[in-house]
Amino acid sequence: MPILSIERSAPVDPGVEPGIRLSIVGYDAGAADLLAIRNANRETPRDTGYFDWRYRGQPAAHPPVVVLAEHWSGEKIGALSMIPRDYLVDGARCSLGVLGDLSVSAPWRGRGLAGRMLRYAAESDVARGWAASVVLTDEAAAGSLERSGWRTVTRLRRYAATALSHRLAGLAAVFGAQTTPLTWEVTDTFDRRFDEFWHALDKTDAIIASRTANDLAWRYGRHPIDRYQCWIARQDALVGYVIFRLDGRRVAIDDLLCRDGERGAARLLRQFMPWAQSEAGVASWSIRVNERHRVTRALSRCGFFPRRDALRLMVHPLEDGRAARLLTPAAWWLTAGDKDV
Ligand SMILES: CC(C)(COP(=O)(O)OP(=O)(O)OC[C@H]1O[C@@H](n2cnc3c(N)ncnc32)[C@H](O)[C@@H]1OP(=O)(O)O)[C@@H](O)C(=O)NCCC(=O)NCCS
Repeated sequence: MPILSIERSAPVDPGVEPGIRLSIVGYDAGAADLLAIRNANRETPRDTGYFDWRYRGQPAAHPPVVVLAEHWSGEKIGALSMIPRDYLVDGARCSLGVLGDLSVSAPWRGRGLAGRMLRYAAESDVARGWAASVVLTDEAAAGSLERSGWRTVTRLRRYAATALSHRLAGLAAVFGAQTTPLTWEVTDTFDRRFDEFWHALDKTDAIIASRTANDLAWRYGRHPIDRYQCWIARQDALVGYVIFRLDGRRVAIDDLLCRDGERGAARLLRQFMPWAQSEAGVASWSIRVNERHRVTRALSRCGFFPRRDALRLMVHPLEDGRAARLLTPAAWWLTAGDKDV
């Protein structure tokens, strides 16, 4: 197996046995071990088709890497991955390393091994090739991440609305709710109109993952498990879209992007929601965006309420300060689509 690097100074945490070797390898070399360790430590298994989609499906400037922890007996006891993804930070392209599939075998937990792998990954030469490392995580790994220098910037929170809360919000905002109707259509093809929209969109104060037509076709059009539809609104050119999954009478909105910030989002949702109700008999909607996302006020104007479930956005900034901007909560435009699991 071509190893990119082996732990040199071996900074050992209290509790972690010294006879554990960490190495960092390219995704192709580490994929089988990563998949095996991940599946042994998760309730929902994934297959190689899913891994290929996630790790190889989206072209990026750098290839993904895998960190493996191996006991001296030869047993692989921990793994994580880092997938470089293209982001726009205030309009400038940069690569962020997204942490994924962090797993430690059950007998080895509680000894600081996750923290040791995380520090090793973030301080590796490979990680210096991108502006910072980021992760969307639940609480299980938050402690290990914090102890390894990662900082919580914001939370990707779920907001939910019912037909009743949407109607009441519309009545309360009777004047604001009057909007010129948009022309809409539903599609599952991401054509060049999405590129034109993406390139024309003002992203000067935003941190957002690349959403070209190719990126959307990979993330939503070729998703190996979920089936997505895209509701697009036009005024000659495209002015916004809502990408969603239907689950019975519920709609999960995994992506929403529009011109004109809060106003544009309210306008989009006020036409999308009644459409979903009449066309598909939808009775409730949910969407995940980060707290202080520019559309959160539009969500409350459309009858959405914040729910308890949330993932943390954590960032491991490099010491040279290149990523200081990434610590600004309101700059992020995150949706559920940014967690590619
Ligand atoms: C989450 C996971 C990777 C943590 O791995 P780990 O090596 O046990 O992590 P740590 O040892 O750093 O921390 C785990 C707990 O052990 C204890 N601990 C941490 N460092 C310790 C040390 N040096 N000595 C003794 N105990 C320690 C802490 O109580 C810690 O709990 P906390 O994080 O809630 O404070 C592992 O539990 C796992 O694989 N879980 C299943 C998969 C999963 O949930 N992955 C994360 C999805 S994002």
